[in-house]
Amino acid sequence: MAEDHDVRTLTDPADRRAATDLFRASVHAGPIGDAVWERHGHAADEHWLGARTDDGELAGTAFSFPTRLTLPGGTRVPAAAVSAVGVRADRTRAGRLSALMRAQLTAAADRGDVAAVLRASETGIYERFGYGIAARGEHVRVGAHPRWRPEAPAGGTVRMLGPDEAVTVLPPLQERLAGARPGGMTRNERWWTRAVHPGGQEDEYRGFAVHRGPDGDDGFVQWGLRRGEPRTPGGGDVLEAQQLWAAGPDAVAGLWRFLTGIDLTSAVMSWFRPLDEHLDLMLVDPREVRVEGRGDDVWLRLLDVRGALAARSWGPADPVVLRVRDPLFDDRSGTWRIGPDGPAPAGAAAPELECDVAGLGTAFLGDRLPSVLVATGRWTEHVPGAAARADLLFGTGGPAPWCGTFF
Ligand SMILES: CC(C)(COP(=O)(O)OP(=O)(O)OC[C@H]1O[C@@H](n2cnc3c(N)ncnc32)[C@H](O)[C@@H]1OP(=O)(O)O)[C@@H](O)C(=O)NCCC(=O)NCCS
Repeated sequence: MAEDHDVRTLTDPADRRAATDLFRASVHAGPIGDAVWERHGHAADEHWLGARTDDGELAGTAFSFPTRLTLPGGTRVPAAAVSAVGVRADRTRAGRLSALMRAQLTAAADRGDVAAVLRASETGIYERFGYGIAARGEHVRVGAHPRWRPEAPAGGTVRMLGPDEAVTVLPPLQERLAGARPGGMTRNERWWTRAVHPGGQEDEYRGFAVHRGPDGDDGFVQWGLRRGEPRTPGGGDVLEAQQLWAAGPDAVAGLWRFLTGIDLTSAVMSWFRPLDEHLDLMLVDPREVRVEGRGDDVWLRLLDVRGALAARSWGPADPVVLRVRDPLFDDRSGTWRIGPDGPAPAGAAAPELECDVAGLGTAFLGDRLPSVLVATGRWTEHVPGAAARADLLFGTGGPAPWCGTFF
């Protein structure tokens, strides 16, 4: 087994705890404490892998939990949410991550997962395994008490929740809202327990609030203190909205009005906001929404390409013949004729467009159009005009893709 680094499933809680500590060390964090491990260390619905040395020592790990990922058109497909990937610093660059990724993706496909998703620590790691950036987000900061335009949505009512209420009220609401955007994903119970009761830092403040519009609850926010930013003299704390979900502009306005109106606050920042949140359009001075950066919100790796092509919706256009190469699992490569009704076998037709599976992931949820990917060299156009047709097919016309979940 030396060649594949003895990659095995970890079921024993002691092995899972060792894997957790190995991962934490790989991102320069200390071992998990007893109380936190007991409270939410691992869960039955998760998949843990370990790679061992010839001497049987744990040298690398990768983890996933089951999720349902929303595709354009609203269909949800089973997917593996990959996280906690790490290799011991003295055992890197010997192929352990590659062995873990291959085993993890194979197991996920065998379970029937249509795709895998992850959030990457570094952008150079995952493309080789077929992942592409499928949604992006903006990191924004809004000063306290911004001036709202008179015609901006007023928002509904906001009510705060305690943590015990948050773990029961928020999961079904998030699940509903995640179904309305491509890239939205469901979370498992442990994800929520960790978000609401982080453990380790018992005095860490977390606030939770739900927004209610004319049709009932339609948004929520979780916030805390932004670490590393001191209270400004006479100004107050910088808050961080760690989760902010809104069904539409009214809930966006209501939740941001609430957050930026909290006393003793100088600013509110939030990572990875959807590209179509348009908060700046609601303020007198659009520069009061300071975009401090932009990042990759979620990476997508299609495992069952035909199944994924059949599950999403397509725009109205003449079909296009697309060849998809999967360098990691060559038997998953294929050519399909994609039209408004989905994929059909291409038969003897030559491909008009070609990409690898990572490149398909980049277009799949609607974040980038095929013509942009052709123009930047990421896809190949064999027949002039094919990319323009593909733009109409891949374009969703709906909300920007967004995952909105850290995992
Ligand atoms: C990233 C990490 C898991 C890689 O593990 P590893 O066992 O060294 O990876 P492998 O030896 O299997 O490398 C596979 C390939 O990826 C490349 N690679 C590995 N880590 C890379 C990185 N951080 N950036 C760019 N390329 C990387 C290797 O050079 C190798 O390339 P090759 O196939 O062309 O030779 C490991 O360095 C690590 O634990 N890093 C810190 C924690 C972390 O960032 N985890 C990811 C969380 S999302």
